[in-house]
Amino acid sequence: MRIFPLFFILLLFFHKTPAQNKMNTFVANLMSKMTVDEKIGQLNLVTPGGAVTGSVVSTDVDNKIRNGQVGGLFGITGPDKIRQAQDIAVKNSRLKIPLIFGLDVIHGHRTIFPIPLGLSCSWDTAMIRKSAEIAASEATADGLNWVFSPMVDIARDPRWGRIAEGSGEDPFLGSQIAKVMVQGYQGKDFSGNKNALACVKHFALYGAAEGGRDYNTTDMSRISMHEYFLPPYKAAIDAGVGSVMSSFNEVDGVPATANKYLLTDVLRKQWGFKGLVVSDYTSVSEMIAHGIGDLQRVSAEALKAGLDMDMVSEGFLNTLKKSLREGKVTRAQIDSACKKVLEAKYKLGLFDDPYKYCSTERFNNEIFTEENRKAAREFATHSFVLLKNQNNVLPLKTSGTVAVIGPLADSKFNMLGTWSVSGDHSKSVTVLEGMKNAGAANILFAKGANLTDDTALAKRVNAFNKQVDIDSRSPDEMLKEALDIASKSDVVVAVVGEGADMTGEASSMSNISLQPSQQRLLQELVKTGKPVVMVLFNGRPMTIPWEDKNVNAILSVWFPGTEGGNAIADVLFGKYNPSGKLTTSFPINTGQIPAHYNRKNTGRPFDGNVNAAKFKSNYLDVSNDPLYPFGYGLSYTKFNYGDIKLSKTSLKGNETLTATVTLTNSGSFDGEEVMQLYITDPVATVTRSLKDLKGFKKVALKAGESREVSFKITPDLLKFFNSNLKYDWESGEFFIHIGTNSRDLKSAKINWVK
Ligand code: BGC
Repeated sequence: MRIFPLFFILLLFFHKTPAQNKMNTFVANLMSKMTVDEKIGQLNLVTPGGAVTGSVVSTDVDNKIRNGQVGGLFGITGPDKIRQAQDIAVKNSRLKIPLIFGLDVIHGHRTIFPIPLGLSCSWDTAMIRKSAEIAASEATADGLNWVFSPMVDIARDPRWGRIAEGSGEDPFLGSQIAKVMVQGYQGKDFSGNKNALACVKHFALYGAAEGGRDYNTTDMSRISMHEYFLPPYKAAIDAGVGSVMSSFNEVDGVPATANKYLLTDVLRKQWGFKGLVVSDYTSVSEMIAHGIGDLQRVSAEALKAGLDMDMVSEGFLNTLKKSLREGKVTRAQIDSACKKVLEAKYKLGLFDDPYKYCSTERFNNEIFTEENRKAAREFATHSFVLLKNQNNVLPLKTSGTVAVIGPLADSKFNMLGTWSVSGDHSKSVTVLEGMKNAGAANILFAKGANLTDDTALAKRVNAFNKQVDIDSRSPDEMLKEALDIASKSDVVVAVVGEGADMTGEASSMSNISLQPSQQRLLQELVKTGKPVVMVLFNGRPMTIPWEDKNVNAILSVWFPGTEGGNAIADVLFGKYNPSGKLTTSFPINTGQIPAHYNRKNTGRPFDGNVNAAKFKSNYLDVSNDPLYPFGYGLSYTKFNYGDIKLSKTSLKGNETLTATVTLTNSGSFDGEEVMQLYITDPVATVTRSLKDLKGFKKVALKAGESREVSFKITPDLLKFFNSNLKYDWESGEFFIHIGTNSRDLKSAKINWVK
């Protein structure tokens, strides 16, 4: 016992920086004093209540902390409460090891920003980094030091409710966002008290659940895994994320929480991850239902695969010692997991000051500030995507009468969106309030319809609060009121879409259209002949072909957060010209799913010519193309792309290619355009996507202004995973595409040899 730590310290001494050496010495020293029980205790993450997503809530938490049986707590906030819990650990437990305090801080903490899918549509990585920075600052002012974010699961199936929590379907963009979120949460280091340990999740492939049904099996080739789904997790690791959460789903027949390939071979060995791996909520004990064995067995399998901390199952706490006695796990495996937990606490500075994040002053002054609300408003305006704007019906005139109609027009419970556990709904600004605050036009309001008339669905959506408020009036009465005010108005703003918890965890939907109650409302509003602007609240792409054809304008606002209503008014009245672009394709119908842009050709590609469609890869009843493609989004102004100018067309080895396009704002509004670069590799030893996003730039141009914009392309951007899972590029022809979305692009051909 005495010799091992000394040897360990000496060995590490020669490989590490002084700071790492200091940490290793400290942790090794502490571990030399710990009993096996105390080590196992560190692996136990419990929640005394609050927002929980499963049935098990930890019991007798105080005593467990006292007995050294708890490593961390999640689900409580506030410096006072957290101080109380920390007191028990550092005053009453034998070794006085501080606890780590976590929570789901997903898109803001108390000040809620747009849902992550919305934030991703800004394509503004500096802004997204800032959003994470503010979230970490509020969370740490609230006593927390560990945020269960970023969620970087690539999702191609909008039926999956948790598509709302990620950055869409593309691994390149997803990786950029993963990186800046980690940087925003963690900062440079934890020397101050405003940064929190980030936790990238859900490792891995959680977003590829079959049929979009939450927690479901995923099954895919290793090439697809590495090419399309794993890059954002890796980007978070490369950015120095301190922790990783394993996912609920199985991969290759083994649940991710006990999947050695994922947790050890890929994460630790290939990617060199040195931080802490925590399970998802009861994902250890859920492996019993998966069919992996009893609690003792699943816990041992998880530890052996590389899991360090067990969230809520208490499988580690209650069975690992027995498994050690029976030779089913080793002391080294327990030590390694314990070391990771202690290192996380060390890095956060908790051994120096266990109350570092418990500042009442910060709690009183740094949460939900004017400044943070201002940021929330700005972030929201940048997240909206203008999907249609016939005859420039938007922006609205700042005079006349606007009828604001719809079940989501004045609904505080539906502004924040999924996973806003610390947000205060009562403080969110609704669309009606925002429109009135703008003071720009005469505003009339009617609810018009229920979010849904389906009481069974309403009951399920209302699990946490009354998002679906079924009116005491009949649908006909509500409709009549709406049509009355529409007739008195110059324009109708129809605020429709999903309730906040129609997306998010355990909120998969087989039908992703508007509810019939709202479809009827829209149909009747369109019949009035008044221009109809549809403001769509959505946590996922929805199937809206009728709406696309029949309403005059559509603005997707996702779930816009605390300042949503003000931000929507800013965009509708033209104070901000929308610049968001979709990060996930909108299918025409659910049968088309998956409709992601980076699909492959097949041996019988369909070129869109229906007269030659027989025996080609297509549907008889619907086109292959989505309603709105990845990267799509309109502006109040018009951007024109010139042809691509290349620095050369034949390249060799590690040269750099410069591709330049002149972008012109030919409309009458100042605006921002997200310029997108895609590459096609038409011939390779494995089949490649039709195109892959490989770059983007958000460019602001004044009305009438032009600018030359260049993209640098290096062979790194040509790399892919081949049959041996080697990441490399192959000589040949490539197509470079630059344009406004994944469908409408300028193209140029090059030749590049090794
Ligand atoms: C979710 C995680 C979350 C955890 C703790 C789980 O149900 O999948 O994303 O971090 O609960 O709240």
